[in-house]
Amino acid sequence: MNFKVLTVLSGCFLIFVLAECQKEKPTKITEKRVMKEPKASEPKFSTMAGKKVKQGATKLPKKGRVKPSVVPRQGQQPISILTRAVAKGQFQKVPNTLVLTAGETLDLRCKGKAIKWRYPPYLEDDDVERRLRIKHFERHSQLIVLNSAAADTGQYSCWSFHCQDSECRDGEDKLSETFIFFTDPQELFVPTEDYYEVIQLRTNHPTLLPCQVTNPLAKVTLHREFPPEKVIVDGIDISYDVKRGFMIHRPRPSHAGSLFCMASVDGVRQISTKYMLIYVNYPSSVPKPVIRASVATLQAGDNFNVTCTVFGEPEIAVDFSWEYLGQQIGRPPYVRERTDLVRHGGQVQQESESILYIDEARAVDDGLYSCIAENLQGSTTVSTRVHVFSGTLAPKKAKAR
Ligand SMILES: *[C@@H]1O[C@H](CO)[C@@H](O)[C@H](O)[C@H]1NC(C)=O
Repeated sequence: MNFKVLTVLSGCFLIFVLAECQKEKPTKITEKRVMKEPKASEPKFSTMAGKKVKQGATKLPKKGRVKPSVVPRQGQQPISILTRAVAKGQFQKVPNTLVLTAGETLDLRCKGKAIKWRYPPYLEDDDVERRLRIKHFERHSQLIVLNSAAADTGQYSCWSFHCQDSECRDGEDKLSETFIFFTDPQELFVPTEDYYEVIQLRTNHPTLLPCQVTNPLAKVTLHREFPPEKVIVDGIDISYDVKRGFMIHRPRPSHAGSLFCMASVDGVRQISTKYMLIYVNYPSSVPKPVIRASVATLQAGDNFNVTCTVFGEPEIAVDFSWEYLGQQIGRPPYVRERTDLVRHGGQVQQESESILYIDEARAVDDGLYSCIAENLQGSTTVSTRVHVFSGTLAPKKAKAR
């Protein structure tokens, strides 16, 4: 782990930033605002139904993959099945948020015959697995985190599931969860593996800067590296959630650059991983191509072309690809692409076009021509049929003349 390197680097950086911050005198931090994200934005998931539950740690997908989550039935508060051992034989209901000190042992119990757990991804790492113990008993399941660390901060949840024959179903109304902070004065932020993280800022897509604090009382501010300045967190364009980090709700090109979070608790200040924000002009929808062949029917030997046109937002790249029968036998038609800005219904639009030229058509050029137009949102395929008549078949018309 290169936390050491990170710490040293952050340390150097911190000195620089502190100098900057002293200047502006620690103004009362008023931008800290805890915004509840709407329920709907929480990750939903496909359950691991069908899989056998192993004794011991329930393996969950690694970071990056879609994480499972169960969304409790709306409108009704589920009865909590989650408790915590606070002393020998003494259990307490677990509140929504729990603050523990790093080093303490976490001992959670979840009522039910068949239980699944979810816990912060850090605990899935092999070198820390020994600190995590999950034991299933007849009427409950136990999750223990020995020698807890700041990095264990996060959401812990459990739910029961039922298996009948070979099919398993999650008892969706039986999910209990809690967010646990493991405070550590040395680690105000949940440590990450990387010194910096690249994040795409997509048009119309809220973007999260996941600087997760380990202490809910930390005062957290957002900063830009160059030019060094504090970023205004107004709760509308940018908001802060103590369980997630900073959310940029309406990314703009001006948000791009290198940003980081700063936390302070009891006179201790630390900075987070740096986030390289890259603005990506993101299309609002998939392309809607229109395909047109210059002729639908032609004689072998004639030339023809097939045009695929997309009208869309300016500065949104559209990639074209073609599929047709002759391609498989190495027929190499000539393709030309172009983009223009045009006025379309009072708006400036980008017209992107790909034109396939087939010179001296042959029998193998007869068939379906498909154009696949793709942008960052996805792709759309459109097709048209072209009939090529070879000399012996077409003369019907010629004879009639
Ligand atoms: C496509 O072919 C038709 C007929 O040969 C021709 O009139 C037209 O100009 C061609 N289109 C392009 C874009 O070259």
